[in-house]
Amino acid sequence: MKRRDFIQLIPPITTGLLLPENLQFYSFFNSINRKDFGNDFVWGAACAAYQVEGAWNLDGKGLSIWDTFTHKKGTIYKNQNGDIACDFYNRYAEDIALLKYLGIPNFRFSISWSRILPNGVGTINQRGIDFYHRVIDTCLENNITPWITLYHWDLPQVLEDKGGWTNREIINWFSEFVSICTKSYGDKVKNWMVLNEPMAFTGVGYFLGIHAPGKKGISNFLPAVHHAAMCQAEGARVIRTNIADAQIGTTFSCSHIDPKKAKERHYKAAQNSDALINRLFIEPALGLGYPTDTIPLLKRIEKYMQSGDEQKLKYDFDFIGIQNYTREVVKHWILNPILWSKQIPASKRKVELTEMGWEVYPEGIYYLLKKFAAYKNIPPLYVTENGAAFEDVVDDEYVHDSKRTKFIESYLRQVLNAKKEGVDVRGYFYWSFTDNFEWAEGYRTRFGLVHVDYASQKRIVKDSGFWFKKFLEG
Ligand code: BGC
Repeated sequence: MKRRDFIQLIPPITTGLLLPENLQFYSFFNSINRKDFGNDFVWGAACAAYQVEGAWNLDGKGLSIWDTFTHKKGTIYKNQNGDIACDFYNRYAEDIALLKYLGIPNFRFSISWSRILPNGVGTINQRGIDFYHRVIDTCLENNITPWITLYHWDLPQVLEDKGGWTNREIINWFSEFVSICTKSYGDKVKNWMVLNEPMAFTGVGYFLGIHAPGKKGISNFLPAVHHAAMCQAEGARVIRTNIADAQIGTTFSCSHIDPKKAKERHYKAAQNSDALINRLFIEPALGLGYPTDTIPLLKRIEKYMQSGDEQKLKYDFDFIGIQNYTREVVKHWILNPILWSKQIPASKRKVELTEMGWEVYPEGIYYLLKKFAAYKNIPPLYVTENGAAFEDVVDDEYVHDSKRTKFIESYLRQVLNAKKEGVDVRGYFYWSFTDNFEWAEGYRTRFGLVHVDYASQKRIVKDSGFWFKKFLEG
């Protein structure tokens, strides 16, 4: 099973296979225009530390699990790694200038924990702290609002050596890291995201072993889930303590899931997948607990819970980040005794695919926004990631990527549909700003609005980047 097979096994079972009438109407007759989203709608682009920074061992940075994992042969496409990546550590000013040139007013990036705390806890690396001050200051000088993700998968290796996310101590380790970041940057940065896609890093890193740290099995997965859910809330409380006027969110990987056929057993399979992938982290945060009603196996999480945890899992976030790329279609599968479901690969479904092998399915983002909006007491939603990898045709000084432009337009149309129907969705961040290191796929797949020639580190704005610029100009 591949990573996306696992993390995209999700969402709203609200649907049959037919689009609502008004959805079809919007899709075919509405041309997309920035002003339709309203003046306050937040537009941005995103990246993550390990995927762009490089400088893996410079200026006092400690090792992260991704440094270790990628340096092992056979873990990543062509044994590639993020040692240099986009060299954002040295080229951040150039990249922020490009954001400004494209008129992108918000920038989401993450902080490398092991750059700030090379030992995970304890001694602070001042050169690491200074680096993010430079990034933040450069954003602010260019009128670009920084949005910080505190954890985008690069745990310090020293902490992994003590069990990483499976060790309950991580709640203290993480709180210390969050405290240092918020005390350092809280005067300048008001938008914070605690975790990036906890389902992805626990599922793919601690159950499937396809991502760092390469651990497998339910006995790693369940404690990692509980500790990540605890950190999600505890991290938010630390932010609030240090920055009273912060906007605090966290982000979830989600996918719309359809059953293969309108048969009871396939619906059940879709529901189970939905519970695991889409409900597992939002529901404890909302005070609803883990979805043990649908997946009884999750009751085993109790083994890792201490008294009072149920309350501590809850946090009233200021916003929730929805991250969506594709949808999944699943069928009943007797050989999977946990979910009783199996994903039908997009490649076998005669649908349009991205270079990741994921289906292009814009309606999925509409269904997801509606699904999340239906929770009682849900805060405002932001699309904190959406994007696609397609083969870019590099032609001298231009990169032609009409499929990406079409992809963004079609997904945005669906975001607008949800908004028009009353969903409180307040922003959209394209993933990713530049091409970057795509985890297990290495540099094979490119998501950027800006092309990176990794040999020369030259940046070229793709046609989709120019389209976004024009769109943002209104
Ligand atoms: C992650 C990104 C990743 C993107 C495309 C998201 O799950 O947050 O780091 O590059 O998907 O795979």
